[in-house]
Amino acid sequence: MERLPGFRDFYPEPLPHSDVWSCDARQYVFDKWRTMARRYGFREYDGPPLEPLELFTTKSGDEIVRQLYNFTDKGDRPVAMRPEMTPTLARMAAAHERAYKKPFKWFAIPQLFRYEKQQRGRLREHFQFNADVIGEPEAAADAELIALVIDTLRSLGLTADDFWVRLSSRRAWQDFYANANGDPTRAYEFYQAVDKLERDKPEEIDQKLRAAGTSLEAVTRFIEAGEPTAELKQIVDDLGARGLGDYVKVDYRVIRGLAYYTGPVFEAFDRKGEFRAIAGGGRYDNLIKLISGGKVDLPALGFGMGDVVLLELLKSRGLLPKFDGGLDAFGLVEDEALRPQTLALIQRLRGAGFAVDYALTKAKSDKQFKRAQDLGAKHTLRLERNEAGALLAKIRNLSTRKESAVTPDEAEAALRSS
Ligand code: HAM
Repeated sequence: MERLPGFRDFYPEPLPHSDVWSCDARQYVFDKWRTMARRYGFREYDGPPLEPLELFTTKSGDEIVRQLYNFTDKGDRPVAMRPEMTPTLARMAAAHERAYKKPFKWFAIPQLFRYEKQQRGRLREHFQFNADVIGEPEAAADAELIALVIDTLRSLGLTADDFWVRLSSRRAWQDFYANANGDPTRAYEFYQAVDKLERDKPEEIDQKLRAAGTSLEAVTRFIEAGEPTAELKQIVDDLGARGLGDYVKVDYRVIRGLAYYTGPVFEAFDRKGEFRAIAGGGRYDNLIKLISGGKVDLPALGFGMGDVVLLELLKSRGLLPKFDGGLDAFGLVEDEALRPQTLALIQRLRGAGFAVDYALTKAKSDKQFKRAQDLGAKHTLRLERNEAGALLAKIRNLSTRKESAVTPDEAEAALRSS
């Protein structure tokens, strides 16, 4: 049985094959995401992976609707696997906003599902670090989120030579479109055409832009002028004050594909331009109102950072550490008569927080030792009786080869100091 195309198996390291995804690397990235989100004062939330279809069909725009994994459940409800987290967050925020002081800063690490054409950096399932600020209209919040994107990528070893954040404004594009007398009912088609500037053929784009009332030439002129709006200037200055100015650049080629963005938008890319966007986000001040049917009106903004492009980028830059099981010790049972005492000691050490493994069944001592090495254990541990019949724990550090002999009661301290 094969897995579905665009879905991944995650294996523990060492990996059987270079094309296989590493569960250790995934956990490493998740840990960095969580650590940095907390350092910025974000609190973790989560929602259901399956949602009413309607949550996505009206709010996110055609592109994502075309990519939905949707079906009718056994209760005849139209449902969809979540393709993104933002509508769920908007629903959750609207339902209980009174319980939280504004602005509130929340993050999540959901697995998302999109029926996309599979290509490099794009799969049918991915994990996404989402961080959003609810209830803050000021540009300081936009800067705070971009700083979080930058610091998260830096915590993974990436530098200003590896990535940059392209900052733009859906509002600036809205104004451009209004000045060009674009048909307001076709505004989203216009945004989508701009979003595809770097991917589609110029003639096709020009055709789409003309249908929306403007042209590739006018759009290119606007991008080349690159005049930052007052709001974007504020964001750039805020980031500059933090010493993060090198990481960000105003670039109107970014507009974002999703329908709900209303203000500043941004995307993080590798500098060499080898990969698709590492992260993307922006302000969506109307979404909560839309999703709550007008009951709650709160400004909001956030970003999503996917694990697929990020892991590929880290791998290509040699920034992923080697992972092993992190075993502090491997228990050798050389004398089966001492197995019960060995088990007692192992449980005691595990209780004290050490990671300890051992041979489940009788095996030759050289085989057990080999297994300890294969598993990358830091120490071996074995019990012996001395001449007087007292138990002795022998602890060997496998990198220095030094062995110490202590009583079982002293084993914990000996492991800690060795
Ligand atoms: P998005 O641009 O659709 O935004 O996705 C954000 C990031 O998730 C992308 O830059 C990419 O790294 C990753 N990603 C998206 N689709 C795939 C895929 N099929 N395979 C692999 N990686 C993918 C959103 O989803 C917004 N909801 C983000 C947001 C949060 N905006 C405000 N708050």
